[in-house]
Amino acid sequence: MEAMVLSNKRSEPFRTENGAANTWLPPRGAPFAFSYNTKDRASSGEFGRLMDHLSVKDLHKTYGDSKSPTLALRGVTFALAKGEFVALRGPSGCGKSTLLHIAGAMDRPTSGEVWLNQRRLDVLDLEGLAIVRRRHIGFVFQSFNLLPTLSALENVALPLSLDGLKESTAKARAAAALEEVGLSERARHLPSQLSGGEMQRVAIARAVAVQPELLIADEPTGSLDSNNGLRVLELLARLNATHGLTVLLATHSAEAAAFASRRVDMLDGRLHPAAELT
Ligand SMILES: Nc1ncnc2c1ncn2[C@@H]1O[C@H](COP(=O)(O)OP(=O)(O)O)[C@@H](O)[C@H]1O
Ligand SMILES: [Mg+2]
Repeated sequence: MEAMVLSNKRSEPFRTENGAANTWLPPRGAPFAFSYNTKDRASSGEFGRLMDHLSVKDLHKTYGDSKSPTLALRGVTFALAKGEFVALRGPSGCGKSTLLHIAGAMDRPTSGEVWLNQRRLDVLDLEGLAIVRRRHIGFVFQSFNLLPTLSALENVALPLSLDGLKESTAKARAAAALEEVGLSERARHLPSQLSGGEMQRVAIARAVAVQPELLIADEPTGSLDSNNGLRVLELLARLNATHGLTVLLATHSAEAAAFASRRVDMLDGRLHPAAELT
């Protein structure tokens, strides 16, 4: 498959909320670092919307000091359309979590740009990032990250309460989210009284209860046996298909990646378009 080229499909510069031109689009004809099915999308007129949701441009992330730096991201350019389910594949250490943390407003890049729904994230301070994270992004971790002293319901309700929702509203929404993941019966259980698969579904309920624009899942099946892993992946696919939730999944598993509608390969801090499947 040929690399997609940004051409005359979109001649208008993007505008930010306050109307300023978003000038990050590369010059016409400049190749993008990813490829995808040009036939379906370009001809259906979807291309102009491609970058409307999440996009990152020339991201670099360096950890450590200048004496022994780790170059975790070395120039990643990538975009996710609304409603897509994309799997980011690659071996351990290739930079998947680093990319997801930056895309999920949990960390900032060393350089490069991050846009979520035409809002620029890389220029926000930590407080601004926290607001975006809380209101607009659902994040699912490999290790669930549930609070052990709170019930399933309380875990799901917590981010809603923190965002200022009334206790009763937060609990009602949390209960609906638990129902969505098939765990109404377990609402009063503590995490220690749940199986790994159930804990991860609670974590997914917590992520979607805020009605995020984007769901990011970092190796969500990495701590689960294959049956429970399958259920979690089916759940993500269903949330994507029925609610149009945009999902970005990192995984080193080919089986997990098969659930996504598009796969992007990563190696040594770079995307690897030649190995892309779709
Ligand atoms: N907080 C950190 N401090 C220093 N190095 C880090 C940190 N996080 C990740 N790294 C390094 O960055 C590289 C990419 O890591 P990571 O993004 O976690 O990859 P993956 O999720 O694909 O396994 C690795 O070499 C890792 O050791
Ligand atoms: Mg990781």
